[in-house]
Amino acid sequence: MSVDVLLGLQWGDEGKGKVVDVLTPKYDVITRFQGGPNAGHTLEFEGKKFVLHNIPSGIFQGDKINVIGNGVVLDPIIFKEEIDGLKKQGIDLSNNLFISKKAHLILPTHRILDAASEAAKGKTRIGSTLKGIGPAYMDKTGRNGIRVGDILSGFDEKYTSLKEKHMTLISMYGFDYNMEEYEKGLKEGIETLKQFTLINSEHEMNRYLRDGQSILAEGAQGTLLDIDFGSYPYVTSSNTVCAGACIGMGISPRNIGEVYGIFKAYCTRVGSGPFPTELFDEDGEKMRKNGNEFGSTTGRPRRCGWLDLVALKYSVMINGVTQLIMTKGDVLGCFETIKIATAYKTDVGIINEFPFELPENLEPVYKEMPGWHCDLTNVRTEKDFPKELKNYIKFIEDELEVPVTIVSVGPDREQIIVRK
Ligand code: GDP
Ligand code: IMO
Ligand code: MG
Repeated sequence: MSVDVLLGLQWGDEGKGKVVDVLTPKYDVITRFQGGPNAGHTLEFEGKKFVLHNIPSGIFQGDKINVIGNGVVLDPIIFKEEIDGLKKQGIDLSNNLFISKKAHLILPTHRILDAASEAAKGKTRIGSTLKGIGPAYMDKTGRNGIRVGDILSGFDEKYTSLKEKHMTLISMYGFDYNMEEYEKGLKEGIETLKQFTLINSEHEMNRYLRDGQSILAEGAQGTLLDIDFGSYPYVTSSNTVCAGACIGMGISPRNIGEVYGIFKAYCTRVGSGPFPTELFDEDGEKMRKNGNEFGSTTGRPRRCGWLDLVALKYSVMINGVTQLIMTKGDVLGCFETIKIATAYKTDVGIINEFPFELPENLEPVYKEMPGWHCDLTNVRTEKDFPKELKNYIKFIEDELEVPVTIVSVGPDREQIIVRK
């Protein structure tokens, strides 16, 4: 058996949660392999809406096994809130959510450090979700971190010692904070974590594979936010790309099967950093309004713009995408004409390759196509696709040389078309 990976090809929020939920019935195990509560994955079905932050999006489709892998950073406070919220809705995960002992903990002082660092950066701030992601991964790679397995013995001493170190750092920023506020719920969060089965996830994942279980790995964020390949430094602090799935679960690259690359029919970005096709006009406003483009984690308005094939090609290459999934085509239903960036015009001429850095004066070269200009949200079969939508998809497939196998036309689980 192999591990299929589903990951974002843009700057996150491509609709990963929704599609993982739809694909889950085909799999036995769903895993998260990187990121943390900076993620907000939305699922809608039967008139209900859920936003998941730490927990894999496979939890609503029967008793699948859900695993939080070693590559994830987990905030016990947010984790408890999420578990409690789900319990209130009648969803009890105590028997089918397993957590890697090697996942690192996000501590209250990581969140303070995130806030202090962003405040100090001023205009050059990353636009972080302020969930402590950067500082937690810094402690991991700096070999100072505390792991989930550490809560089973000696946690208090380790916490006190790391907290002291962090307080020294925070004082250097001159950042004001109320520790009591930040620490509220930590003890309870740790106790909640202890109630779950903490596993040596690399052994378990490989056992699942040997036993013939099928695994779907759910990416968080998107390729253009990857720490190595994204628009550095305006990125997150983990490897969001396919290779990150091997590291974040302890499986061999030989075990990767399908790589589902998910993209919106246009682009969005939340937080700072370059965005070549960003729109500052009425069209951008229309996308935001029609697509309800407000962050699932922070509520911030998302920046919107046309689809960028230069960036998408890069993401397909880095991840080895085998199947494409296009979401939110319905949102473009309000446009008579749709644009797609196929190259960038720069001081050194036209470029087709995603560059080391995106220059500020870069101008996208657009191909214009007629829009479908209709409501797609009730379409359920491919034969009902308007010809303009078929042409749009065909153009993307030809450019990327990968088939679009799934098209999503609304937030609900049912609003999906699997192409033959
Ligand atoms: P994720 O982080 O990749 O899981 O995506 P988010 O949940 O942050 O953002 C995607 C948003 O678009 C959510 O509000 C989804 O409910 C919604 N969504 C997903 N697919 C579609 C679609 O095809 N059409 C529309 N209109 N909304 C969608
Ligand atoms: P999902 O999984 C969209 C962005 C932040 C910021 C940058 C760094 O829902 O697609 P961080 O908190 O990681 O230090 O923020 O990355 N960002 C996301 N944008 N979707 C996400 O996750 C994101 N997670 C982080 O806005 O620009
Ligand atoms: Mg999201």
